[in-house]
Amino acid sequence: MLNYPQVTLDFMNHDHAEFVALRDQLLSKLSSQTPAQTINDLLTTLLQHTRQHFAEEERLMCETNFPPFPVHKGAHDAVLADMTDRAMRWKRDGDQNALREWLDGDVGDWFVNHVSTMDFVTARFIAAQQTPLGG
Ligand SMILES: [Fe+2]
Repeated sequence: MLNYPQVTLDFMNHDHAEFVALRDQLLSKLSSQTPAQTINDLLTTLLQHTRQHFAEEERLMCETNFPPFPVHKGAHDAVLADMTDRAMRWKRDGDQNALREWLDGDVGDWFVNHVSTMDFVTARFIAAQQTPLGG
């Protein structure tokens, strides 16, 4: 179970829950004898979901002139590069243990850390910008 905070924007909380569910699903498939194609499909879904979620966060950061945008965007780019690299390695080696260890360890740690810090601060900033003044 990942322990991560809720942030100020609903769409982000919704996407985070979806990410956690997809990761859980992959981890449980990786614990049983699952055909490689099923793992490929789930991994592709997780990557697409992550890419779309990051793009939406980045769009809102730009729209609201979030000052540390480059830092947050840099963290997204780094994790997407790592995920793409891992997916390629998995397709090449078919090593379910390596994939499971990475998802269970690195990905889980990254997610909790990212949501607790960057997403938490970013959501609060964006929500404040979106609230009409004097309302
Ligand atoms: Fe983020």
